Amino acid sequence: MAGKRQTWGTRLGIIMAVAGSAIGLGNFLRFPVQAASNGGGAFLIPYFISLFLLGIPLMWVEWTLGRYGGGFGHGTAPGIFHTMWQKNRFIKYFGVIGIFGPLVIFIYYTYIESWTLAYSFFAMTGKYSGAATEGAMQSFLKGYQGLERNSFFSSMAPAYLFFLITFIANITVVYYGIKGGIEKLCNVAMPVLLVCGIILMIRVLTLAAPDPSKPDWNILNGLGYLWNPDFSALKSAKVWLAAAGQIFFTLSVGIGVILTYASYLSKGDDVVLSGLSAVSTNEFAEIVIGGSIVIPAAFMFFGPVNIGAIAQGGAFNLGFVTMPLIFQKIAGGAFFGCIWFLLLFLAGITSSVSLAQPAIAFLEDEFNITRKRAVAIFGAATFILCQPAIFFLGRGVVNELDFWGGTFCLVLFATIEVVLFAWVFGMENAWKEIHHGADMEVPNVYR
Ligand code: ALA
Repeated sequence: MAGKRQTWGTRLGIIMAVAGSAIGLGNFLRFPVQAASNGGGAFLIPYFISLFLLGIPLMWVEWTLGRYGGGFGHGTAPGIFHTMWQKNRFIKYFGVIGIFGPLVIFIYYTYIESWTLAYSFFAMTGKYSGAATEGAMQSFLKGYQGLERNSFFSSMAPAYLFFLITFIANITVVYYGIKGGIEKLCNVAMPVLLVCGIILMIRVLTLAAPDPSKPDWNILNGLGYLWNPDFSALKSAKVWLAAAGQIFFTLSVGIGVILTYASYLSKGDDVVLSGLSAVSTNEFAEIVIGGSIVIPAAFMFFGPVNIGAIAQGGAFNLGFVTMPLIFQKIAGGAFFGCIWFLLLFLAGITSSVSLAQPAIAFLEDEFNITRKRAVAIFGAATFILCQPAIFFLGRGVVNELDFWGGTFCLVLFATIEVVLFAWVFGMENAWKEIHHGADMEVPNVYR
């Protein structure tokens, strides 16, 4: 290996970093859309069942596997899987999914993250204030993405510039390493993100009904739209799948990134309480903050009839079309718009650096090269790979990458991990390994 393996600076640092990886665009855009279109409050029943049966145990498995592998100098799944099942010559090839998956997500995630930075700038400078209707705001977004030429944008230059800034920011953070880059970023970005989220939540919760002639379009009904339970949804398999999918996505489990983060722990470091703390921080950001902003605000401004179509329009529409329209209608909208997109950018970058780290760790650990060279190789390769996501967005490249990286690989990888952990490694060993240095016991029912 090229030098000694890196370590985290503090325990809070790794909890912040794992929470940073988990808290992403999924918490503030994907979750409210999923909840609103899958039974409202009733969605929380399959959601919490998935959290307790899939999310939390997978989080513990990944923290434990990562710490275990790190002890042998391996920070990614190929090396870790091989260490656990040395007699099997092929298992390490399955581990490649844990590097390929995050790489694929990184390629499109960074580009979408760059839109949030751009929109934060546009909110501050009033660039989108000429787009007062839904159609106009959609044109603004399409013009920015290069899907159409219009009066807002004559080229893709602004989108490319913000992509470059975002990409360089990501590469710079990973260049400075675990303690000097990722931990420092998350220690600052996470508290700022939570403060921005709480400010926005309070702003939305204290909004008066915007149209006096429609007193029903108020905050209580907005919250009710999201949270009033429709128990008939529980009979639908689709709702259960959506809830389980959201848990994987939001916690960043089954991707391979938590394995890598945990590989920089020391043997005696706790994983049980730390893993649970990262989950709890993510859930606070998702349910309390994520559930109080977009849908209730959209209900108040667009009413009970239009809100269904808005929620069905998907997360990007809600984030980049509906929200900017709302910000134009409230006092101090430029400021709130700016912090909304800043919140999304911080949520994005703390997730994307975690998606970059497995490939870098793999190059460092398994090819004995220095971090700087590994980052240079990673940067050059992903820069080229990002180009189709930027230039062929309209041809569905992002959706395709999201299916393979963000849906398919996740479930496959999590299944392999769990089978290896509980059956090959064996529950006896697994239980001992989890509890090494643990500050709390895992409830026996999980065994
Ligand atoms: N867990 C990250 C998110 O929610 C990927 O966006």
